[in-house]
Amino acid sequence: MKHFYLTTAIDYANGQPHMGHAYEKVLADVIARHRRLCGQPVYFLTGLDEHGQKVQQTAEKEGIEPQQLCDRVAGDFQKLCHSLHISHDDYIRTTEKRHKIVVQSVLQKLFEQDEIYLADYQGLYSPRLEQFLQEKDKVDGHWPEEFGEVIEISEKNYFFRLRRYYPWLVHYIKTHPDFIFPHFRAKQVLEFLKDEPNDLCISRPKKRLAWGIPLPFDEDYVTYVWFDALLNYLSAVGYGEEALGHYWPVDIQIIGKDILLPAHTIYWPCMLKALELEMPRTLLAHGWWLVSGSKMSKSTGQVVQPLDYVRLCGADAFRYFVMREMVIGQDCDFSHERFMARYNGDLGNDFGNLVHRLLHMLRRYCGSAIPRGNFSDADDQALRQHWQEILPRISEAYQHFAIHSALELLWEMLRLLNRFTELRSPWSLAKSSRDEDRKKLEATLATLAEGLRLVVNALQPVMPETSRIVLNALGLTSEANLHWDQSLRWSQGLEGRSVGDPSVLFPRVEG
Ligand code: ME8
Ligand code: MG
Repeated sequence: MKHFYLTTAIDYANGQPHMGHAYEKVLADVIARHRRLCGQPVYFLTGLDEHGQKVQQTAEKEGIEPQQLCDRVAGDFQKLCHSLHISHDDYIRTTEKRHKIVVQSVLQKLFEQDEIYLADYQGLYSPRLEQFLQEKDKVDGHWPEEFGEVIEISEKNYFFRLRRYYPWLVHYIKTHPDFIFPHFRAKQVLEFLKDEPNDLCISRPKKRLAWGIPLPFDEDYVTYVWFDALLNYLSAVGYGEEALGHYWPVDIQIIGKDILLPAHTIYWPCMLKALELEMPRTLLAHGWWLVSGSKMSKSTGQVVQPLDYVRLCGADAFRYFVMREMVIGQDCDFSHERFMARYNGDLGNDFGNLVHRLLHMLRRYCGSAIPRGNFSDADDQALRQHWQEILPRISEAYQHFAIHSALELLWEMLRLLNRFTELRSPWSLAKSSRDEDRKKLEATLATLAEGLRLVVNALQPVMPETSRIVLNALGLTSEANLHWDQSLRWSQGLEGRSVGDPSVLFPRVEG
């Protein structure tokens, strides 16, 4: 059976992990976990992009070998994955043998197919971006900051015949509305493609850049880092082997909006076409995390360390925050105040308090066993009905990457459960000696427990650790293995289960 194959960008090995990296991994992880719960076999790949000028330069500055630098940075990024509870199945590094073999065999194949040719190149070049430039790249007559120093070079290089695929590419994007998500990005790509692109220079002379994968047909050159990096998506799943069929075509490729053009929507589809492979089903482009309106990155110096918040509030709180705040495809401003408001408000008050209160009441009034829900009135039915109404919308939201709206709906349900608690006021019912009130008390707690079970099950992709803790506290240890649809049906399955002691899920954090 074909796996649901999901990838993230592979991170550059020339810097530290930041908020953007953390977000992208969490987003991919939420989608992967949701698919697994829906019963699909999933293959989730992430990794590190280790070649190129920038890595070579950073290593030189530090006085170490590039490989040493990459090994250290790989450790940092893997630590990030670990502390965010990312459930990837594979971590690829582009200095691994399995990757180099694939890059070289792809190059050899394309060279033999006459998809790659040698030509003189004379023109402008930005060492910082490792990109050849044209006069038209100037903005108002000047080179934009990010190009760094622009120099003139003249050298022989190898080129991939990208232009061959230009008409096909434009047609493909126009006729495959699911190829680029969100859809407005496809329009931007088509706009960009109004001008025919140049063939892609896929080599760098070794005398200028040594840190790369040697071309199999000319030892004086290494492979251009983007051509190398993009192939990670194939090398991780056995390009050239029969196994590829279990994964390809890749289902979702998650990337930031800055690497959609030209790498993932021009180079990559043309490379695949030349290799006679199917296109990715969906390229999912997310927006940027900003701090007061500017992109969060090393060069601006404004780096919020995601791990600080993970340490302070836990991985699930961080995961919740980034999924709740960012609307897929759009940019989002990060602020400490917002993080704290979500943490203390949504998590502490709406969610944590409900769990604590319910477990406490179950212990106090029912000997820590979930009672029978043998009483039902209009309020009770309204809750069930609400759940029936939002459930398909929650599933739909997960399916279409609108994680923020799935969470919105779940929090609406949590707030209804809290209101229901106030309305029924079990603590007053507990004081009464009437049979009727006792019945009502038990039914109230049973309904709350069931409502909470449902919310927590639907929350598993975003907050796996917390969900597990709450399910365990409700006496459910194997719920995590249930199929998504099955676990989200309103039922009486909790009756008689003994519950755990109330603990505080999200201790208040000041500041
Ligand atoms: O681009 N907000 O690596 P990278 C959100 N190696 N996402 C952000 C971000 C921000 N402020 N900053 C970066 C590369 N990202 C290449 C990819 S793939 C074959 C090679 C995202 O470390 C960025 O958009 O610069 C990209 O998807 C990922 O983080 C890695 O960025
Ligand atoms: Mg970048």
